[in-house]
Amino acid sequence: MAFTLKFISTSGGLLLLNGKTVGYFETAFNSFGNRGYITDFEIYESFRGRGLGRIFVDKIERYLISKGAKMLIADSVRWSAVEFWGNLGYEPAPDGSGYMFKPVWADKR
Ligand SMILES: CC(C)(COP(=O)(O)OP(=O)(O)OC[C@H]1O[C@@H](n2cnc3c(N)ncnc32)[C@H](O)[C@@H]1OP(=O)(O)O)[C@@H](O)C(=O)NCCC(=O)NCCS
Repeated sequence: MAFTLKFISTSGGLLLLNGKTVGYFETAFNSFGNRGYITDFEIYESFRGRGLGRIFVDKIERYLISKGAKMLIADSVRWSAVEFWGNLGYEPAPDGSGYMFKPVWADKR
């Protein structure tokens, strides 16, 4: 199985499984370059529930870390995806803003 991030801009693009588009993603950085955001992430409905979300988030995290991220931040607001990000090791921000955080030292370098 080949899992590929196909960038169509400098910050995001398509999620490819063996060359087939199964979703999309968008990322961003803060101005200091030490916080990497996953601002948008979707696995298309017919491809959900088989571990692809976990695999592609891992690839995006590695990309953000390779660019200097020390903190990974996911936006769970738009899709109410708190449980999904929680399963992937993210903690909800205490201010209730809907952002979910994962320090890089939690499990990757
Ligand atoms: C959330 C989403 C990305 C999950 O994709 P997926 O490929 O089905 O996820 P996976 O199969 O890799 O699941 C990863 C883990 O999250 C859990 N999970 C997946 N979707 C979940 C949901 N909606 N609620 C709670 N847990 C969920 C799975 O049980 C799995 O946990 P496990 O590995 O401990 O068993 C997909 O449902 C989606 O695109 N939803 C709409 C957009 C969205 O919510 N995007 C995220 C915020 S931008």
